[in-house]
Amino acid sequence: MTQKTIAFIGAGNMSASIIAGLVKNGYPADNIIASNPSTPKLDALSAQHSIKTTTDNNQAIEQADVIILSVKPQMMAGMLGDLSIDKSIFSHKLFISIAAGLPVSRLEELLVTPTAVVRTMPNTPSLLGLGMTGLYASAAVSAEQKQVAEEIMQAVGKTVWVEEESGIDKITALAGSAPAYFFLFMEGMESKAIELGFSPEAAREIVSQVATGSTEMVRQNDISIAQLRTNVTSKGGTTAAALNSFNDSNLTGITAKAMDAAIARAEEMAKTI
Ligand SMILES: NC(=O)c1ccc[n+]([C@@H]2O[C@H](COP(=O)([O-])OP(=O)(O)OC[C@H]3O[C@@H](n4cnc5c(N)ncnc54)[C@H](OP(=O)(O)O)[C@@H]3O)[C@@H](O)[C@H]2O)c1
Repeated sequence: MTQKTIAFIGAGNMSASIIAGLVKNGYPADNIIASNPSTPKLDALSAQHSIKTTTDNNQAIEQADVIILSVKPQMMAGMLGDLSIDKSIFSHKLFISIAAGLPVSRLEELLVTPTAVVRTMPNTPSLLGLGMTGLYASAAVSAEQKQVAEEIMQAVGKTVWVEEESGIDKITALAGSAPAYFFLFMEGMESKAIELGFSPEAAREIVSQVATGSTEMVRQNDISIAQLRTNVTSKGGTTAAALNSFNDSNLTGITAKAMDAAIARAEEMAKTI
């Protein structure tokens, strides 16, 4: 893996997860610096991973080859606008934004100097190292820089590149927002389990174990998901009865419609941020 100096601007949850993943994968802590306005998060990161820290974004950016922009999207303009360093040095660096909804064109405008920008869309399971991150590279990003960005985001899970920036909105619908779809389905099963007389603890345990087991069956088999479903569905049996009920309500169509709604909302939000 690359041994470039990486600066994290904003030392919140997502940065902490990526830093933990990098260090766990053997990335030298000396090559990682985190910057944050308040010190408790920095102190924790320094104590846990022996990385460098600063409260001065300028200092972090100056010494880094790769800068991860990890402040909240609404903070990005203020944070970049407050930088006092000579922005011409940006042209030698790679900027990776993990801020949801901020288009590359807006980031380029805020960075002022033409520079290499990778926009990413991680999802919440990244906090456990089980993330699914979409990446989009601006025209200025080299093949080597793409590799660097990919390796960094793989510290918290799997990655997929999209060719067009609109692909990030699609990844948002498919991965960014998607944990909530599974939670909703699991909530539905949990409520019904409680209604059937199981304790809330037992209901949660059953739903969680079934979800984990089903996911592992997908992961550990090469056969299609549709085939896995068919394999557990005996004709005229209980599973078939439940699936017929789902199909009567057009679960596949409902899912597609929900994902289209997420894409439309992502497109709308990009215009306002
Ligand atoms: N968490 C997720 O699952 C997830 C998923 C997809 C995308 N993202 C994106 O990841 C980014 C970070 O999210 P997060 O969940 O890690 O948020 P977070 O925990 O709130 O972290 C943001 C950090 O930025 C710091 N900060 C505020 N102003 C700053 C400034 N001017 N300079 C440097 N640092 C500053 C905050 O410091 P203080 O708290 O000390 O003010 C905070 O530690 C966001 O843009 C979000 O859209 C997150």
